[in-house]
Amino acid sequence: MEKFHDKYLLLNYIPTVLFTSLYIIIFFHHLSVPVVSGDWTHFYKPTETIFLYCGSSDNVTSPDGPRTWTGDINSEYFPLHQSQNKASINATSSQQPRDVFEKIPYMKARLSRSQFTYTFNLTPGQKFIRLYFYDSSYQNMDRSKAFFSVKADSFTLLGNFSTSLAAEASRQDTILKEFCVNVVENQNLNLTFTPSQDYKGSYAFINGIEIVSMPLDLYYTTATGATEFPYVGQAAGASYSLSNSKALEIVYRVNVGGAHISAGHDTGMYRSWSTDDDYLTEAIPSALPVNISLKPNFRFIHNYSAPEPLYQTARTMGRNAKQNQNYRLTWQFPVDSKFTYLVRLHFCEFQGEIKEHGNRVFEIYIADQIAEKRADVIGWSGGNGVPVYRDYAVMMESKANQNQQNRLSIALHPAPAWMTNYFDAILNGIEIFKVDSSGSLAGPNPEPQTTTPTTGRQFGDCVYVYALYSDY
Ligand SMILES: *[C@@H]1O[C@H](CO)[C@@H](O)[C@H](O)[C@H]1NC(C)=O
Ligand SMILES: *[C@@H]1O[C@H](CO)[C@@H](O)[C@H](O)[C@H]1NC(C)=O
Ligand SMILES: *[C@@H]1O[C@H](CO)[C@@H](O)[C@H](O)[C@H]1NC(C)=O
Ligand SMILES: *[C@@H]1O[C@H](CO)[C@@H](O)[C@H](O)[C@H]1NC(C)=O
Ligand SMILES: *[C@@H]1O[C@H](CO)[C@@H](O)[C@H](O)[C@H]1NC(C)=O
Ligand SMILES: *[C@@H]1O[C@H](CO)[C@@H](O)[C@H](O)[C@H]1NC(C)=O
Repeated sequence: MEKFHDKYLLLNYIPTVLFTSLYIIIFFHHLSVPVVSGDWTHFYKPTETIFLYCGSSDNVTSPDGPRTWTGDINSEYFPLHQSQNKASINATSSQQPRDVFEKIPYMKARLSRSQFTYTFNLTPGQKFIRLYFYDSSYQNMDRSKAFFSVKADSFTLLGNFSTSLAAEASRQDTILKEFCVNVVENQNLNLTFTPSQDYKGSYAFINGIEIVSMPLDLYYTTATGATEFPYVGQAAGASYSLSNSKALEIVYRVNVGGAHISAGHDTGMYRSWSTDDDYLTEAIPSALPVNISLKPNFRFIHNYSAPEPLYQTARTMGRNAKQNQNYRLTWQFPVDSKFTYLVRLHFCEFQGEIKEHGNRVFEIYIADQIAEKRADVIGWSGGNGVPVYRDYAVMMESKANQNQQNRLSIALHPAPAWMTNYFDAILNGIEIFKVDSSGSLAGPNPEPQTTTPTTGRQFGDCVYVYALYSDY
């Protein structure tokens, strides 16, 4: 065992290319891999993109993407001449978002105390629908009275939704809600905003609507029905497949161990990817390997699956094999109970030492249940530098004392010694989707915040991470 441990340390300490490599030791910090504009923004070209700046009469371009937003006033998507809603107003926010560098599409809004509908004439197929909200005061509307539902045809995307409670809970005044729905042939997509009837003086509003078409086989089961994935926590061998008739909400999209990737640096679908800092709960310590010289070899999955930088960074368990056997590298994500969630885990082995089947084998737990007893990234992908992802479904029940909120955990632990050369585990990216239940994705509003939530994080005294820069 000790011998093994030494070998492990050694391998991590001797740079493969001594003269061109540099190890940096950083404490509690993320390594910011520069995300520069590159070809990957063109990996996928959507057949349809709509960026609608609600409440605006002008067309404006936001730099990230870049995206040209069309004003909704007099646009084909909001035909006022049909006088569907003379009661709605367009307004300019009285202030600017705190954390948002770009003001578009947040500075203008459409608001109404009665129902209003946008109608989109789209090609058939799966679409991302992104709704942008800015919790601010518009004219004399009281922000705490924004309570409303949003429907996409028959799907309820948001119900009794309060932007001010959502903003308070996330401590961000801008809110982006992201969904996937399938549009059937010869049918317009109607997005309907309805103020809650339970509240006197309630109103609905929206700042921006984005619709982007998706590749057919990105998340949904393909037409051939070939893709089925494990249904964790169900009977042994149970599988799950995601049919076109389901609507999804994208609840988390994370570049594990790496930097934030903005929408404009996605593969062409304008997805943004956050860091994993807010979700990591047990890491004693963990390590942040990086290989920016890696040019991922997309021979196993489509090159638009995730941006290249996601596969150039990762989080592993750390250098201490003994310690790794005694803990699980864990992330936790707050979710609404009583929904099924689809969890996609992205992997890419890019450290030179991990070359073969059996080199780094680990266990994966989802929501405290075993999802994978023998995760072997090289075994799945076929080689170093080859990205791969794995999907799992899990049903989140409500906890006894928490009726509505639950925490979906993802945890990694080394496999038993006979299975693996290194006592370690790796993860590059996480996507978590909520699947509709009887046509609804609506969850409860977060509880009004009274105290700072305790995260229950467990880190070692000194989170000792290393980063490896190899030659350019
Ligand atoms: C992505 O893959 C497709 C084929 O799967 C290929 O035609 C395209 O050139 C690739 N894009 C880039 C930027 O490599
Ligand atoms: C904005 O763009 C739309 C669609 O491209 C166009 O029809 C409209 O005339 C433009 N409006 C202005 C004010 O330029
Ligand atoms: C709404 O749009 C109209 C037409 O562009 C404009 O004249 C008016 O000032 C806008 N209202 C507000 C409150 O911004
Ligand atoms: C969408 O709305 C339009 C007009 O409001 C209506 O004619 C059409 O039937 C609606 N389509 C669906 C699929 O609900
Ligand atoms: C970075 O990735 C490339 C391609 O897989 C590999 O050849 C190289 O050894 C890696 N560098 C290090 C230092 O692990
Ligand atoms: C709407 O949300 C508020 C705030 O979370 C909650 O108190 C109320 O019970 C909800 N109403 C309905 C009908 O769900």
